[in-house]
Amino acid sequence: DTGGHSHFMAKEIYEQPAVIDQINRLYRDRSLLDQLFSLDAARIRRINFVACGSSFHAASVARHWIQSMSGIECTVHVASEYRYEALPRIYPGEVAILVSQSGETADTLAALERLRRLGMPVIAIVNESGSTMARLADITLPLAAGPEIGVASTKAFMAQLVVMAHLSLHLALRQASPTITGRLRDHLLRLPALIDAALHNEPAVIEAASGLAGVSSALFLGRGPFQALAAEGALKLKETSYIHAEAFPAGELKHGPLALVDDAMPVFALAGSDDLRPKLASNLREVTARGGQVHVIGDRESMLSMADVASGMMTVPRAPEFIRPMVAAVPLQLLAYHAACVRGLDVDRPRNLAKSVTVE
Ligand code: M6R
Repeated sequence: DTGGHSHFMAKEIYEQPAVIDQINRLYRDRSLLDQLFSLDAARIRRINFVACGSSFHAASVARHWIQSMSGIECTVHVASEYRYEALPRIYPGEVAILVSQSGETADTLAALERLRRLGMPVIAIVNESGSTMARLADITLPLAAGPEIGVASTKAFMAQLVVMAHLSLHLALRQASPTITGRLRDHLLRLPALIDAALHNEPAVIEAASGLAGVSSALFLGRGPFQALAAEGALKLKETSYIHAEAFPAGELKHGPLALVDDAMPVFALAGSDDLRPKLASNLREVTARGGQVHVIGDRESMLSMADVASGMMTVPRAPEFIRPMVAAVPLQLLAYHAACVRGLDVDRPRNLAKSVTVE
């Protein structure tokens, strides 16, 4: 039942405020995160994230949070590579965090088995509570997003970000003052309303998607944590609309990808971090100077400073920097959804893909 929406993907996008609310309630009670003390949380020195697809992108955002808030070194690995890679020496205090919606992804499960053989403690962040991954991990942190039917992950990706935001705050308690972490936790409580407000900007996204009807390629750019959002936006778009989409850290543009830019290729730019905004704007000027069409995804304030480069804008509500990645996800999801609709494609079941990738 798509609950009055045309597709499961739309239903799941619109469920996100309720999902976040649910996670906030679940993680307000500290007992879930206090499980980490069984690993001697005070001694966690390095975190190795392992995941695939959208779950990999969510982990890539969490790396920024954890490193900046608690100084714990984080690495992020694609499971299909990590399962075979020569691993460096494992240090005391090293843990793995596996992120998965289904909990059945073959490559992530193979990585889990390998890590257990090597004796590294494994934390799984999983949506399907009865899954193999949830069963085999030392500690499982639930996503509580409810069943996700659309092959393109939306609410589970959002849930991964929110759970890892709670986890980041928990780890930050070791060095940040409780006043600071308390303030950041309040931001998470405001998130459902901000996501709701971002959903209200759907008409601007529909307009941008209508321009994608005959497009064959698109670029997504971001900096800092928004690099991972750019990658997620590109993955979502190619998955649902079959448009070739690539993502780059904006600063990499002139090291090669700029050669691709012409007036036929839309460029979507995520204006997330205030500090990096002037840098992003100058990257984008390189695009417009070559006739490229730039669509900026950002709040009103960033739009003002990008007005000279933007030929299209998808405005999101202004949010505290910590939770901006979640807010930025909304127009990216809606863009992929509407692009698939205008191209007349099977939104919930894209060709060649399975919801859960249980083979290598
Ligand atoms: O179930 P998992 O989170 O382990 O799945 C990982 C990927 O297969 C998944 O995120 C995939 O990339 C999605 N279809 C993306 O929308």
